[in-house]
Amino acid sequence: MGEPVEIDTGQVADQRTVYDAQRGRCPVAHEDGAWVVLRHAEVVAAATDPATYSSDVSSRRAIPNSLDGAEHAAYRAVVDRYLTPGRVAREEPQCRAHAAAIVDALPRDTTVKTVGGIGVPYAVRSQSTWLGWRPDLEDDLVAWMQDNHAATRSGDRARTAEVAERFDRMVHTLLDARRDAPAADVTGELLGETVDGRPLTDEEVVSILRNWTAGDLGSLATSVGVIVHFLATNPAVQRVVRAQVEAGDRAAVEAAVEEILRIDDPFVANRRVATREAELGGETIPEGGRVLLNWTAANRDPLVFGDPDEYDPAGHAAANLVFGIGPHVCPGRDLTLMELRVVVEELLARTSWIEPAPDRPAVRETPPVGGWARVPVVLR
Ligand code: HEM
Repeated sequence: MGEPVEIDTGQVADQRTVYDAQRGRCPVAHEDGAWVVLRHAEVVAAATDPATYSSDVSSRRAIPNSLDGAEHAAYRAVVDRYLTPGRVAREEPQCRAHAAAIVDALPRDTTVKTVGGIGVPYAVRSQSTWLGWRPDLEDDLVAWMQDNHAATRSGDRARTAEVAERFDRMVHTLLDARRDAPAADVTGELLGETVDGRPLTDEEVVSILRNWTAGDLGSLATSVGVIVHFLATNPAVQRVVRAQVEAGDRAAVEAAVEEILRIDDPFVANRRVATREAELGGETIPEGGRVLLNWTAANRDPLVFGDPDEYDPAGHAAANLVFGIGPHVCPGRDLTLMELRVVVEELLARTSWIEPAPDRPAVRETPPVGGWARVPVVLR
């Protein structure tokens, strides 16, 4: 007999099981020079104590993500103005039209791709419409999104920085064109914003747009994969959500989306740096210590949620950390929930059933990216 042959099934281990095992042993794990916070109580404690756990973690100034205190509050107020419930409601018809067109164009009774076939085009088109960006930028944005994802997966900071710079160049070109031909859309409006009585610089506008784009495009596309996978593999939940869509119960569909993302949170972690020596989960974090708030692990903490895989939207809503907590809590939550609800509504209303593809398995993303890289399904 020769050597056993290793067959590459394309399968990547589910990082959630690793976090689940790790969190039980150690709520705050010291790994590669950083303190990884895995338990719900400690993640909440650190996220709501910005004086001790600063967001000023990178050499690049990210607006508003890397700012602290009063400076953060001033820029955050600008960002919040673009994501109010009224603004979100205005975007809904455009998102619905994109979702309907994408779902209608997919074949029935054969394998289709969820992330590449639905999530990516839906995220890019919805966002371009919101920001007032030309539809012909779609290919560039999709390519950028894939490179950004690959760079995050590689864990190579230099590569991530290079991808971020490429985005900056793309948006700078767009802003220059805007100056020549001003438009009354979100990008045009941002160019007229002021903070502390002075206009935002181009650098600041680009940084704000990069954070929206990085947050929106990648997470939204991945979230579509997570939700469709969950519905396809949990027929009982699919039946419940179908009934909620049919009844027009928007709040229930959004609650379902948020609970599915809690069980399999694709937005894994955010960084902090300790401003002083501090105790967390029995560990002493030194001043300057790097801290990673692991939302995915905290969202599956059995001390808070019991069986983390149990689907209970109402029971788990109050402790759900998918959109974070504290001063940096996601300002895009309402927009995201509307966008995900609309794509779920259109997908379920335009199909009679969704099931996992019989010929190809779903494949997990490569850590540190969460969720599924490929979710082949059959639409009926
Ligand atoms: C599935 C989609 C999304 C998820 C899971 C998500 C999750 C999060 C989380 C956990 C945070 C907290 C970060 C921290 O504490 O350091 C955050 C912050 C943020 N998110 Fe989202 N987000 C999503 C989509 C969006 C969208 C659509 C936008 C905007 C259009 C957005 C914009 C932001 C911004 C600007 C921040 C930083 C806020 C601050 O520093 O004050 N996100 N997001």
